[in-house]
Amino acid sequence: MKTFYIETFGCQMNAHDSEKVVGTLLEKGYSQVERAEEAELVLYNTCSIRDKAEQKVFHRLQQFKRDAGAGKVFGVLGCVAQQEGERIFEKAPHVSLVAGSASYTRLPELLVQLEAGNRRVTGLDLNTDLAFDTPHTRRDNPHRAYITIIEGCDKSCAYCVVPFTRGPERSRTSESVLREASELARMGYTEVQLLGQNVNSYRDPSPSGWDFAQLLAGVGDIEGMRRVRFTTSHPRDFVKGIIDAIDSSPSLCNHVHLPVQSGSTKILTAMDRQYTRDEYMRRIEWMKNARREIAITTDIIVGFPGETDQDFEQTLDLLDQVEFESMYVFKYSKRPNTAALQYDDHIPEEEKTRRLLIVQEKQRAIQIRRNAEYVGRVEEVHVEGYNKATSQWIGRTTQHKTLNFIDADVREPQEGRTLVGKYLDVLVTRASPNSLAGESIATRPVLQ
Ligand code: 5AD
Ligand code: SF4
Repeated sequence: MKTFYIETFGCQMNAHDSEKVVGTLLEKGYSQVERAEEAELVLYNTCSIRDKAEQKVFHRLQQFKRDAGAGKVFGVLGCVAQQEGERIFEKAPHVSLVAGSASYTRLPELLVQLEAGNRRVTGLDLNTDLAFDTPHTRRDNPHRAYITIIEGCDKSCAYCVVPFTRGPERSRTSESVLREASELARMGYTEVQLLGQNVNSYRDPSPSGWDFAQLLAGVGDIEGMRRVRFTTSHPRDFVKGIIDAIDSSPSLCNHVHLPVQSGSTKILTAMDRQYTRDEYMRRIEWMKNARREIAITTDIIVGFPGETDQDFEQTLDLLDQVEFESMYVFKYSKRPNTAALQYDDHIPEEEKTRRLLIVQEKQRAIQIRRNAEYVGRVEEVHVEGYNKATSQWIGRTTQHKTLNFIDADVREPQEGRTLVGKYLDVLVTRASPNSLAGESIATRPVLQ
């Protein structure tokens, strides 16, 4: 068994875990193939944040087994693996490996057991001390890298599976984070994204005892690091020091993703979010009063049990008040083990859909208005790719907005000539609800 295929579902944490899994497998002599059909070992790194995400993996397993699964070894990794454990063997008997993210340090050992012909191998321990710290990460992107700073989550939001799938909170030492970031800068990476389910509760376990704001500033100070992002934040642990760090270090991106979930304090309490609407708004005020202009994005859940029309109106009102740069909105989905499962007053599916559409429509109008304000401005982009269909380069601004542009000099990628990975100043000439478009400007003081 020497070839593997991996497919990843879910968040950036999962995407980065897959990079570590790939690195570990390559190190063990496996080679990666692009199509599941060609692989001896087929891995799915799964997400269970909402029911739909969970169903996807079972669908994939069934479909693949039927079509071309004969003779292959199947492994389920990630959050569904942790949540369902050995039940996966019952639901999908052709699966041989089930391992949650907290057990990936044992992955090489599990692979040896598989190779020895073991039919059923599991890694489901949640309380491992070590984060999945591997020297063999195979990063997908040569310019922008993920760095895990904290694993797991100690909160108990009433809707959320993550504390059950990713285990208790464990922070990495600041020394090890800084070492990885410096090494990445040395390799030519100019942008990093610090990852954790709740990066704000980061606490350095080594004697220096850094908090998140200190770590952020420390990474921002590394030579060659032009953009530092972080995700995801919990409003309860989001302190003013983070804004101060962003204000004083230009390499820290002026974008904060701060999931609010609801605009109603009653619903926030039922969700056990540990903040009120007013407390959330105080954090928004910090950002609006910052010296730099900070782009704020969020997540919303509609149709949480007990959400009345008045509660929902309060969410709509909050959207008007904050005017988020962009957002993800979800219909509440029942998850195993979570407190909200036991709540009364579950909202009918059609009503959740109705509310979802209202939020989406409102936010679309806000984004049309906000994005229009960018027209005429010059924004620095980090170039990510090229879109053949539109003949435009694809860039990201520091606020994490997509800015597609044309460049008079390099109209398209050519042999040995690409803009990907470079930083350019772009004049914004058009705006749509989800992206901006423009032209790079002739003077290029920041061409790397
Ligand atoms: N139902 C719907 N949305 C959820 N999220 C987390 N759990 C659920 C659930 N059970 C959303 C939250 C979170 C984002 C990652 O997913 O908005 O911030
Ligand atoms: Fe999905 Fe949450 Fe797991 Fe990420 S941590 S893969 S969002 S369930």
